[in-house]
Amino acid sequence: MKKRIAIFASGSGSNAQKIMEHFKYSEEAEVSLVLSNNPDAYVLQRADNFEIPSHVFDRQEFYQTNEIVDLLKRLNIDLVVLAGFLWLIPENLLQGFPNKIINIHPSLLPKHGGKGMYGDRVHKAVLAAGDDEHGITIHFVNENFDEGEVIYQGRFRVEKGDSLELLKFNGQQLEHLHYPKVIENLIKKI
Ligand code: GRF
Repeated sequence: MKKRIAIFASGSGSNAQKIMEHFKYSEEAEVSLVLSNNPDAYVLQRADNFEIPSHVFDRQEFYQTNEIVDLLKRLNIDLVVLAGFLWLIPENLLQGFPNKIINIHPSLLPKHGGKGMYGDRVHKAVLAAGDDEHGITIHFVNENFDEGEVIYQGRFRVEKGDSLELLKFNGQQLEHLHYPKVIENLIKKI
C-alpha cells in the first residue's frame, strides 16, 4: 500500500509543487490531499494541476472542531507535511499524528525562527545579524512555532554584500532539493 501524504500550505506552494512532482510516479507514496487556510493560495491551483484534491478551511474549523483530524484519518494519511503553512498546529492535530507532522523553515533553527519569522523577514534578520552562514531546517512539529526535533539542516555561506534575493534563492534551491528526499526517507520508516 502506498503511503499517503497531506500537505498544508498557505501561499505559493513551490515546495508543495516539488513534493507533488517527486511523488507523482512513486510506488512508495502519493500526495493525497492539499489543505490551505487561504482560498486564494496558488498552491490550490498547483494541486489542481496534479489532479490532487484540496480542502480549504477557516480558523473556526481548524481550531474549534475536530473536522481536519477526522478528514485526515478518514483518508488514512500517514504523514502531514507543512510547506509554507503559517498557522500554529492545534493540540488535537498533534495528538492525532504524533511524530507524523513535519515543517520546513528557511533558516538554521534555532536561529531566526518563531512567531512572525517567515518569508523575507528571515533573510533580513540574517543580514542584520551579519551571519556568515544561512540555510534551511526540516523538523518535526510541536506546539510551538519552529521548535520540534530537527530532521535535516542544509547550509550555505553568506558573503559580505550578499543580497536578500541571493539568500532567498540559495535557501529555496536547498528546500526544493531536500524536502522531497527527506519526506521519502521518513516515509520508508513509517
Ligand atoms: C518556504 O521558504 C518554507 O521554508 C517556509 O515557507 C516558504 C514556503 O514557500 N516555511 P513556498 O510556498 O513553498 O514557495
